[in-house]
Amino acid sequence: MDNDSTDRIVSGLRKWIATAPPGAQLPSNRALVAEYAASPVTVAKAMRTLRGLGLVESRTGVGTFVRAVRTDRLPDYGWQTAALRSPHARIPALSTPLRSVAPDVIALHSGYPVGDLLPERLVRSALTRAARGEAAVNPAPAPGRPDLQAWFAQELAETFGGGVTAPTAREVIVLPGSQSGLSSIFRALVGFGQPMLIESPSYWGAILAAAQCGVRLVPVPSGPHGPEPEELSRAFAETGARVFYAQPNFANPTGAQWHPDLAAQILEVVRSHGAFLIEDDWAHDFGIDSTARPVAASDDAGHVIYLRSLTKSVSPSIRVAAMVVRGPARDRLLADRGAESMYVSGLLQAAALDVVTQPAWRTHLRGLRQQLRVRRDLLIAAVAEHAPGARLEQVPRGGLHLWLRLPDATNLQRLVRDCEAESVLVAAGNEWFPAEPSGPYLRLNFCGPDPQRFAEGARIIGRALAGQLG
Ligand SMILES: Cc1ncc(COP(=O)(O)O)c(C=O)c1O
Repeated sequence: MDNDSTDRIVSGLRKWIATAPPGAQLPSNRALVAEYAASPVTVAKAMRTLRGLGLVESRTGVGTFVRAVRTDRLPDYGWQTAALRSPHARIPALSTPLRSVAPDVIALHSGYPVGDLLPERLVRSALTRAARGEAAVNPAPAPGRPDLQAWFAQELAETFGGGVTAPTAREVIVLPGSQSGLSSIFRALVGFGQPMLIESPSYWGAILAAAQCGVRLVPVPSGPHGPEPEELSRAFAETGARVFYAQPNFANPTGAQWHPDLAAQILEVVRSHGAFLIEDDWAHDFGIDSTARPVAASDDAGHVIYLRSLTKSVSPSIRVAAMVVRGPARDRLLADRGAESMYVSGLLQAAALDVVTQPAWRTHLRGLRQQLRVRRDLLIAAVAEHAPGARLEQVPRGGLHLWLRLPDATNLQRLVRDCEAESVLVAAGNEWFPAEPSGPYLRLNFCGPDPQRFAEGARIIGRALAGQLG
């Protein structure tokens, strides 16, 4: 409540500052208390925020003023050009799905579900309980809390059939989100300048992490049903790669789920090349027409390194994920994690475990499946009606997104710009391709805010598309 009031004052004053001349005096704190019906503490907090943003400056005993931009002496950072030299890869400053937006925008670009789809009540009480416990003041063990390691191992073990030995808690490394697990794997198991096979299209964050680690990506085409085993085998043989990164369940962006026969063939190819499969099971909790079937459940020889995240299904603020890794690779990865961040906040681990071990968690997941279906079908219908030029090649059986093929002649950059000019944020598909895109695509998230505005968003996309293509 207090934070809401602070945000309201900051947002109101930012609007005022935007039109005020430099040096203009802000209303006194007393006037702001009256205007916003807020406490003096809240007003003081809002002022601190504005000062932190560099928008205002306070003079003791005089008041607070709009900060004048001093143009007489611009800072000179030229020396950094020589010190930094060229980057080894051109990495975008901020990928589209990470952009934050104004509240009135129709946000179809993001990769995370909106708060309505999270187990908010469970999260809040888990955080409160965790804050009261030992975890709030102690470091956690480097591989993770043993009880949380055991939970991740058990979750995966439940998907194992007969004849394959399930993983143990020791084979689990808890992570502060699976993104940093990807970086660790690329750094510790692939290495700078070495090749790694990756589905194309694939997750932008994996492409980015690989670029940052200097890993050379080798794309393997992956259609609506997954990659071709023969093509994968050829790529292993041609490049000498020993690692294949893939999302067998509800892939980001296509929503594809591998058929069990395909999964078995892919695993066989990986085994026959003495390689690792990095299985990113990011959407494990987001099945709609099907449930996730981890490929890791068919492997006990250490070929599959399995990543499972709770950041999207529990809460983006509880950044907890895990990898399950067997054999000497585990020690390499644990060493990398130690160097990277030592351990994951025990408080967040305790809260995550609390949420997923409540009986209400299962109930939540069942309800979530229904909500995802309604939202997915709503956006599909809206696109079909208002943006018929955008073709859905496959209804995603799970996940959070639609992957839409646009006509060949589409100028994708212009389309994204035109939509944004009308307050609709969409993600251009190019960011999901490790090399040249195979065509113009859009990725739309059906789990963002305001599903009641999907039709309006689709209408704007449709109009921008029609405007280009006549
Ligand atoms: C396929 C995939 N993998 C990994 C991640 C990273 O997730 P997190 O670091 O939040 O666990 C994402 C996030 O969008 C994703 O889409």
